[in-house]
Amino acid sequence: MGATIPRKRFGMRNTFARALILTVAMLAVGGIFLRSDLDVGSALLRTAASAREAMTVQQPMGRPESAGWGGRGGESVEQDGSEAEEEVLPTISNSSHVMTCGYDMDRLKKWQELYRLEESFEYTKRYVQVSRQDIPRKSVTRLQQDFLVDAVKVVDVNKQYEAETCPEPLVVPVTKSPFPNTANASDFMFGVSTTYKRFTDIRTSPINEWSYWLTDGKGNSNGGKLVLLLLDASQDELEDAYNKLANVGIDVDVYRSDPNMIMAVRYLALAPKLYHHPERSSKKWLVICDDDTFFPSFHALADKFAEYDHEKPMYIGTFSEDVNNIQRHGSQAFGGAGVFLSVPMGKIIAENYHNCSGDDKVAQSNTGWGPQGDILLRKCIYENSEVKLTLLNDLWQLDLFGDPAGFYESGIKPLSLHHYRGGIWHVAHPWHYTKVAHACGEDCTMQRFQTADDFIIANGYSVAFYPRGIDFDLDQFEGTFHPAPDNKGWNLDFMMGPQRASLHKSGRKIAWDLLEANVNDDGSVSQVYVCKHDDTRWKNPDGTPMNNRDGIIELVWLPEA
Ligand SMILES: *[C@@H]1O[C@H](CO)[C@@H](O)[C@H](O)[C@H]1NC(C)=O
Ligand SMILES: *[C@@H]1O[C@H](CO)[C@@H](O)[C@H](O)[C@H]1NC(C)=O
Ligand SMILES: *[C@@H]1O[C@H](CO)[C@@H](O)[C@H](O)[C@H]1NC(C)=O
Repeated sequence: MGATIPRKRFGMRNTFARALILTVAMLAVGGIFLRSDLDVGSALLRTAASAREAMTVQQPMGRPESAGWGGRGGESVEQDGSEAEEEVLPTISNSSHVMTCGYDMDRLKKWQELYRLEESFEYTKRYVQVSRQDIPRKSVTRLQQDFLVDAVKVVDVNKQYEAETCPEPLVVPVTKSPFPNTANASDFMFGVSTTYKRFTDIRTSPINEWSYWLTDGKGNSNGGKLVLLLLDASQDELEDAYNKLANVGIDVDVYRSDPNMIMAVRYLALAPKLYHHPERSSKKWLVICDDDTFFPSFHALADKFAEYDHEKPMYIGTFSEDVNNIQRHGSQAFGGAGVFLSVPMGKIIAENYHNCSGDDKVAQSNTGWGPQGDILLRKCIYENSEVKLTLLNDLWQLDLFGDPAGFYESGIKPLSLHHYRGGIWHVAHPWHYTKVAHACGEDCTMQRFQTADDFIIANGYSVAFYPRGIDFDLDQFEGTFHPAPDNKGWNLDFMMGPQRASLHKSGRKIAWDLLEANVNDDGSVSQVYVCKHDDTRWKNPDGTPMNNRDGIIELVWLPEA
């Protein structure tokens, strides 16, 4: 595995069909990427020549139109001979998975409605064959294959199309990193305090996310213990919450929060709650986190914590990425990224809890933004021990506004994620992003694969096309996001380094964002990436859209046999 597969075109029966599709494209389709600095002119000329050649041929029914871009322009038309007689054949992948490139109109229609696409949209399906090798994880892996083999197709949800033969899969070398379902979280006990309403609202419910890092994905606990405190929950609702979590395999205890406590104190109270839990004796780390804290790589997290001395009192976490927040609230662990306390640390907090949560402390934790739980916790530790925060910068608080792409497309392997449920923060779908790890291992999530035709798959997050080439520093975060007010221009630099300029509205980048992913019965993982033609990010400098159509890219990741 890992050998480069020569670019080969399958799926179109013969030269005439290709010419015809391009003709149709030319006649029927509005301009895509028709900027003068792109070499579409010569492609169109070639297309015109082939169109004349194809005039006498009858149109085969049921093939989607071409979008008029992709697949190296009209080159294929001028090729001839060897591939001309190729038939549509079923394709068996290397890993013995059957690859199908038909047009399942029920699925396409479902996506069209769900993602509010126009009735006619671009659809590209590509298989990706995982090749696990003894290599280190790379932030960007350059492939010699093209992402687009043929011109992009346009489907209309009111029509039906013949199946096509799939192109050869992209072959991507990845590390032999472990799969999420073998993680062992037995050393950890997690405490979360939230409301019953947030727990059940489909927009904020954390059940799916928790099932990723607290179970094997098949309904069995991975040893991690969850202690959930719910505010405003009746006895029935506590039971309901317990059942929902137990049903997906999460080892959980659900308690009712004391409604007389303010939020900051409810947060601090998690520490003694975890410390006094009967299962504490079998745990090494007591972890306080938010209901929107996500651990994408549990093996890596557990390996990291195995390096620390859990028998000493330890307070481990990360800062906000926004220096303003440190100035505002102080130098402490920002809890959304996860705060990890060794059991001896938990003991110190539990013993001092009464004093640490007194009215005077609460008043001191108010920075003008209301009392802060993170500050109560820091003060409790700093005023009652000599322990200081141990920074673990692979945890991420993600105090970011705007488009988080620059973070998720950076190729890093974060140990935690946070603030992905919108509201004032950004929107992201980490449960879907990490599905692919079930096919290619934990390292694979957010890993980048750059193809010869200037696409970058930021695995699980987006597929981006750079029509004017990739001539910027991929090791720097793209500054698509910004800090909360006040933005000094360098708030994030101490954590992320200065960010390179955003490519929004530059005509240099267009991206399809992952909105759903599924682990299929055969172990492959399907990802659905969506791009809307009116997305304000993907404009040329003159304000025209880079693409006049909506589009879906479906990637199917094939695990090794
Ligand atoms: C998969 O296919 C490629 C290209 O055809 C070949 O080089 C490689 O050896 C195959 N790998 C396996 C595991 O069969
Ligand atoms: C998980 O880790 C615990 C504690 O380190 C250990 O006792 C247990 O055997 C491990 N379980 C598995 C299935 O490896
Ligand atoms: C709480 O604080 C008071 C005043 O600082 C101190 O005298 C007392 O010993 C503390 N209580 C505990 C349990 O540490």
